[in-house]
Amino acid sequence: MHVALILLTAVSAHAFSTEAPHPLPWSPAGPGDVRSPCPGLNSLANHGFLPHDGKFVTEQQTVSGLGDALNIDAALAKLLFQGALATNPSPNATNFSLDDLSRHNIIEHDGSLSRQDYYFGDNHDFNQTIFDQTRGYWTHALIDLKDVATARAARMNTSMATNPEFGLSNATLTDSFAESATYLLAFGNKTAGTVNRTWVEYFFENERLPDELGWVRQSVAISQVDLDSMTQRVVNATGTAETRAEVIRRGGIHGPLLTVPQDVSKRCRWE
Ligand code: HEM
Ligand SMILES: *[C@@H]1O[C@H](CO)[C@@H](O)[C@H](O)[C@H]1NC(C)=O
Ligand SMILES: *[C@@H]1O[C@H](CO)[C@@H](O)[C@H](O)[C@H]1NC(C)=O
Ligand SMILES: *[C@@H]1O[C@H](CO)[C@@H](O)[C@H](O)[C@H]1NC(C)=O
Ligand SMILES: *[C@@H]1O[C@H](CO)[C@@H](O)[C@H](O)[C@H]1NC(C)=O
Ligand SMILES: *[C@@H]1O[C@H](CO)[C@@H](O)[C@H](O)[C@H]1NC(C)=O
Ligand SMILES: *[C@@H]1O[C@H](CO)[C@@H](O)[C@H](O)[C@H]1NC(C)=O
Ligand SMILES: *[C@@H]1O[C@H](CO)[C@@H](O)[C@H](O)[C@H]1NC(C)=O
Ligand SMILES: *[C@@H]1O[C@H](CO)[C@@H](O)[C@H](O)[C@H]1NC(C)=O
Repeated sequence: MHVALILLTAVSAHAFSTEAPHPLPWSPAGPGDVRSPCPGLNSLANHGFLPHDGKFVTEQQTVSGLGDALNIDAALAKLLFQGALATNPSPNATNFSLDDLSRHNIIEHDGSLSRQDYYFGDNHDFNQTIFDQTRGYWTHALIDLKDVATARAARMNTSMATNPEFGLSNATLTDSFAESATYLLAFGNKTAGTVNRTWVEYFFENERLPDELGWVRQSVAISQVDLDSMTQRVVNATGTAETRAEVIRRGGIHGPLLTVPQDVSKRCRWE
């Protein structure tokens, strides 16, 4: 009996492993499950592409989960995993839990598209009021780069105007642009820089991949080059004034990933 139970457990574990065919059964977080401020990882956990409880996610699970769900290549998945590990406060951590990602100003930052700022309280659960501001700037049924950039900038402006402790580091500023690039890459056309608005809204609001709406994962793997390039395109599509306001507020200039318009760099050296 005991052996049979162990075998059954092993078989179930395999059936629900990341090698299972897509899509896996979806279910939201239940009691004892943990989630993050990232709609992407939360969705993957809800589908079982990552452990449904959101706990102790390993590099291998990240590589398989991001690959199977979204065709993110192994090198990029490993890079993102390294970022996630830094949010686990245990020394020499080899895994992370989704709630580790809520620690403020490691990856989690102010001016999110769908979460409140840490200053106001809950910085990790989806917030419809915040997201309604974001989607109000997605003016086309096929969201374009200008919509993506303007929505992000508007959220940053609101946070800067209302949060007395607003702040972004070089790293989190870059992350904020990269996160906007991520929904374009995962669900959109990376050449055109466009994505179906219905799919993106469904993704954010339900923390669920938009399979049911006709989305299929990219046929060409998403690499770090894609992410860097799309991130720079979001920066480029952001008006100089918006970029300048953020940069001045955090008192630095962009990290090496991002090319800052000349006048912004000049202003910052003076500030
Ligand atoms: C190991 C991989 C990943 C890690 C560690 C990670 C981590 C994070 C964290 C901590 C945030 C919160 C930033 C904030 O304060 O707004 C975030 C936001 C975000 N992530 Fe992820 N993420 C990962 C993969 C993905 C994937 C695969 C997607 C796919 C679409 C994704 C899409 C997003 C989006 C769209 C946001 C912005 C949410 C918002 O501004 O409200 N991420 N991510
Ligand atoms: C973590 O790793 C360092 C360097 O490898 C080692 O000196 C230290 O003892 C480790 N700490 C723990 C808690 O394992
Ligand atoms: C996660 O890391 C902890 C130590 O921080 C370790 O005890 C545990 O076995 C690891 N779990 C997995 C699934 O790797
Ligand atoms: C969502 O954010 C708005 C604006 O900051 C806030 O007033 C509201 O209380 C938040 N809702 C929840 C459920 O936290
Ligand atoms: C954000 O603020 C900047 C600087 O005040 C302004 O130029 C820009 O139009 C604002 N952008 C949005 C989308 O509100
Ligand atoms: C993506 O956009 C490019 C350039 O705009 C276009 O040539 C291509 O057909 C589009 N791909 C798909 C799958 O729609
Ligand atoms: C977006 O996807 C929906 C299906 O969910 C479809 O009805 C709609 O035509 C698509 N929009 C565009 C602009 O392709
Ligand atoms: C961003 O803009 C700069 C300066 O105009 C340009 O050189 C660069 O190619 C653009 N990057 C992308 C990825 O479009
Ligand atoms: C931010 O990045 C710029 C350019 O790489 C660098 O000169 C500056 O020292 C960085 N600031 C901080 C606080 O790391």
